[in-house]
Amino acid sequence: MTHTDSHANTTYSGPLNDQAVLERAQGLLDDFMSRIQGVPYEDKGVFFSEMLFVLAAVGPGFDGQVLESGRARGQSTFVLGRIFPKSKIISVEFDRDSPDAPIAEARLKDLDHVELLYGDSRRLLFEQLQPGAAVIIDGPKGFRAVRLALQLLRTGKVRKVFIHDTYKSMATRRFLENHVPGTLFSDHEQFVQQFKHLDDPCWAGFDTSQPLEWHSSSSGVQGNPSYGPTFACIPHDPACAYGPLLWRLHLANVMARAGKSMGKKLARRSGV
Ligand SMILES: C[S@@+](CC[C@H](N)C(=O)[O-])C[C@H]1O[C@@H](n2cnc3c(N)ncnc32)[C@H](O)[C@@H]1O
Repeated sequence: MTHTDSHANTTYSGPLNDQAVLERAQGLLDDFMSRIQGVPYEDKGVFFSEMLFVLAAVGPGFDGQVLESGRARGQSTFVLGRIFPKSKIISVEFDRDSPDAPIAEARLKDLDHVELLYGDSRRLLFEQLQPGAAVIIDGPKGFRAVRLALQLLRTGKVRKVFIHDTYKSMATRRFLENHVPGTLFSDHEQFVQQFKHLDDPCWAGFDTSQPLEWHSSSSGVQGNPSYGPTFACIPHDPACAYGPLLWRLHLANVMARAGKSMGKKLARRSGV
């Protein structure tokens, strides 16, 4: 199948916001669908609509480096390979011995612009990083993911970082909303309404009669349900003081842990 980069020469400027991502995604939809046509969905993988969010936020025609942390069976890696054909994509997976590893290797073997590495991305990403990179983090999770994202942004080399699993009830979601202005989320209502149809193949593996983790609280604090696991997109902000922000993140992590253990103690005492 051949693809035309109909948007390759379009330059997008100005701060990114929900509306801009929505409009870009609308413009990219047909091309995106042709690129993912026939691509099966693998267990543990990022949803298709979330990958459209990544493409729209990074910008079509992107030919810079794409770094991925957390590959598992390579669902997101495969889709990245399809939607960023001009980029060098480097995917890092921690668990070389996982049964997922050979599945990803087999699936990705024909994508010449995708390189697979094993190791801890908290070290490897910094070794591989090139100026202007886009980074996708889907493992580690939670506060460790946000720390990695902010450390990468602090280098000044990263254009945008995406963090998966930032649904509304997570403590890290509240941190991003309260302290990292400019962060966008793929569970934005209009985005979900327009593009959730892309995810029909993804839902087959979920038991939707049970509460899904992004519909309930994993942090001990109730929040509104999110549509799905959800990507956060944090654009690099030259005016941001990333050092102090990392300290704030550390404090938020300590507070969240304290709140969680207090909640457990109270639940034990009241016999819940
Ligand atoms: C949810 S899975 C990734 C799914 C994948 N992105 C997809 O869409 O198919 C999370 C993966 O992150 C990996 N991981 C966790 N911490 C990591 C780290 N520090 N460096 C690299 N990989 C890590 C785990 O071993 C696991 O395979």
